[in-house]
Amino acid sequence: MSIAEILDTMEYGPAPESDKEARAWIKGLGDETRLFVGGQWKKAKSGQSFETTAPASGEVLTRIAEANAADVDAAVKAAAKAQPAWAALSGHQRARYLYALARLIQRHSRLFAVVESLDNGKPIRETRDIDIPLVARHFYHHAGWAQLMDTELADKQPLGVCGQIIPWNFPLLMLAWKISPAIALGNTVVLKPAEYTSLTALLFAEMCEKAGLPDGVVNIVTGAGATGEAIVNHPGIAKIAFTGSTEVGRIIREATAGSGKSLTLELGGKSPFIVFDDADLDAAVEGVVDAIWFNQGQVCCAGSRLLLQESIHNRFVSKLTARMETLRVGDPLDKAIDIGAIVHPVQLQRIRALVETGVKEGAELHQPKAAMPASGCFYPPTLLTGVHPASTVSRVEIFGPVMVATTFRTPAEAVELANNTEYGLAATVWSETLSLALDIAPKLKCGVVWVNGTNMFDAGVGFGGYKESGFGREGGREGLAAYCKPKWLAKAKPIAAQPAPQPSGEATSASFIDRTAKLYVGGRQARPDGGYSRPILSPSGALVGEVGEGNRKDIRNAVEAARKATSWGTASEHNRAQILYYIAENLDARAGEFTERLAAMTGKRKPEAAKEVAASVSRLFSYGAWADKFEGTVHKPPLRGVALAMNEPLGIVAVACPEDFGLLGFVSTFAPAIATGNRVVVVPSSRLALAATDFYQVLETSDVPDGVVNIVTGDRDSLALELARHEEVDGIWYFGPKEAAARIEKASAGNLKQVWAETVQRDWLDPRMGEGREFLSRAVQVKNIWVPYGE
Ligand code: NAI
Repeated sequence: MSIAEILDTMEYGPAPESDKEARAWIKGLGDETRLFVGGQWKKAKSGQSFETTAPASGEVLTRIAEANAADVDAAVKAAAKAQPAWAALSGHQRARYLYALARLIQRHSRLFAVVESLDNGKPIRETRDIDIPLVARHFYHHAGWAQLMDTELADKQPLGVCGQIIPWNFPLLMLAWKISPAIALGNTVVLKPAEYTSLTALLFAEMCEKAGLPDGVVNIVTGAGATGEAIVNHPGIAKIAFTGSTEVGRIIREATAGSGKSLTLELGGKSPFIVFDDADLDAAVEGVVDAIWFNQGQVCCAGSRLLLQESIHNRFVSKLTARMETLRVGDPLDKAIDIGAIVHPVQLQRIRALVETGVKEGAELHQPKAAMPASGCFYPPTLLTGVHPASTVSRVEIFGPVMVATTFRTPAEAVELANNTEYGLAATVWSETLSLALDIAPKLKCGVVWVNGTNMFDAGVGFGGYKESGFGREGGREGLAAYCKPKWLAKAKPIAAQPAPQPSGEATSASFIDRTAKLYVGGRQARPDGGYSRPILSPSGALVGEVGEGNRKDIRNAVEAARKATSWGTASEHNRAQILYYIAENLDARAGEFTERLAAMTGKRKPEAAKEVAASVSRLFSYGAWADKFEGTVHKPPLRGVALAMNEPLGIVAVACPEDFGLLGFVSTFAPAIATGNRVVVVPSSRLALAATDFYQVLETSDVPDGVVNIVTGDRDSLALELARHEEVDGIWYFGPKEAAARIEKASAGNLKQVWAETVQRDWLDPRMGEGREFLSRAVQVKNIWVPYGE
């Protein structure tokens, strides 16, 4: 056969990678693996184990110990014991361990790559050239953050013991994403790999031993869902980091509600891959190969919805189907194959069933004619064309090598189709017109956008979702927030529920009582739907005034008004700054009136109340100042190009204000949210709500666009609960007692909105605690836009 013929048919021989050393290592594990707890290899107390198989052949590789609650408890205790000393090391000392781990991974890179390919079924080319190098890069990068923590994060401290639960699609890479930032910042970890793919986590534990990592800093417990549940529910754990299905993510959100555990979730996706008619079509075809046939499509951010501009549809599909004919499916240890095995027969069955549904619902099926392996867990690269955006295969995450294609006409239609999903993990935009691509990127509701490239990852660039793809970032400076907290929190006292004053029958001032109590919705004062009002009493029980008693309907109206005020998110930062200054100016002009009101409601002396008003004016100035200074970052990943980390507003933020500091607590929470481009629905303090209702006129005279700030007074905790349940609210901030915070966290699981529930007291008068980056970063989600360049 001539070389030209070989290139044409691609019928060349196999290039097998030896699995000798990997098999010897697996054999050395014995008949059943152990757990790595407190630096020791322990038999599972449960006495249970399960098989782990090679997906390419179905062969049993070994048996994996199944940790039960007692095993998890032992691991958490070991991690808790190790944590204070680990955190007390200098950043430099911790950096040396992370650096040692990076070096060890590199030294054993081929063993890691082969074990991973055997256990997971992914091609050796990918484990060798992508997974393992990225794992090493994560440990190097985070060795750097350990080194810099003492200076760059001087006001931060670690969280404690982190429970980390990872999936099977990138077993060692997900471990690195979880463990490296956690231990860099002084946390210790209990990590559970996925039940299908535990082996490389155990090999990593051996590297921890080799590196001389102190006992208990890293603990590896193997097992399935029940083991994960035991981690999630363990009271000794301060933080849960989870990557996996949205379904389990939602269960974990509910399970951790009220536990005080911090939470990051990296969940599923149905990411769009948009090709404009001016794209380099051959390059875009290669992009599709990387988007959906990389790792057999078992990628949370896989570009799995192909959106083609109508005029190029036929040309693109014929190029793509021709390319599909050249993809080789087969033994993952063959260096010449492109697509390996599906991780497990359960997943294979799921993929098959979904494709059948797609065809039944009217899609046209394209699969290459090339031969498939006779046995093992394989599925051919698949394209479904003519799919309706509402069809099952357009909506559901298939998690396999299946691309679904549809068309669009205009850029606006592309954006609409792209965002037509409850997920929001990633998107790809292919166009030779950079101004078009960079115009589209911010309009896509997702955490990562790749321009003329796809599936690019780096330890220095944050990764994570919008909407039901989860919250929190992994990688880069933005990822560190998930593993540390402000130092002052350690000494903070819990917020206790405050008893309401009893009415004494007296009134402080008749002129206030005459005002009709209203809400503030869509830029107008609106009567509460229920037609009720509630008294605001001084500490001695005297009537100070009345406010509207908002209900669920009022909350719905307020969210609807906020939803319509979309232009605020795209207003210029300068414009937002001007309006915040204007609000400050108008508040200042009425300082005397607000001082009297605060004094009447709180029983404080006037100079003290005046101090709160002055602090509120200053706070508004601060956020006017921040509005055009809370900027993103330009990351420099190791490729020719940049990743633009943009701080984008969450969308609609609900704020349940602190009960004390009626004015300052209100201003300190709504101002950072609107400074960053969010629209807000604010529920002020129930006891001191008149500070917020007096504020209507300040807002009305300050050019705040209608619907940007909406205020619903009433019973704060029950209104906050309504907001937590509302599907169109993107984030909720709550400052109050633990019990109500628990209900709010639980209710938020519906659309997985971001929750900031703070149950400890902070000194709102102290600008170091009451304002700044902490608030601003809670109001945004980082989107990374990758822009590779070159000729
Ligand atoms: P899964 O979400 O059940 O598993 C992920 C991890 O969570 C595993 O370690 C598992 O043992 C653990 N887990 C399961 N139930 C748990 C519970 N109640 N509490 C704590 N931990 C628990 O995902 P699975 O079943 O492996 O795959 C099902 C589907 O999920 C896939 O077809 C795919 O659509 C999606 N998926 C998405 C991933 C992503 O990266 N976004 C990764 C894996 C799966």
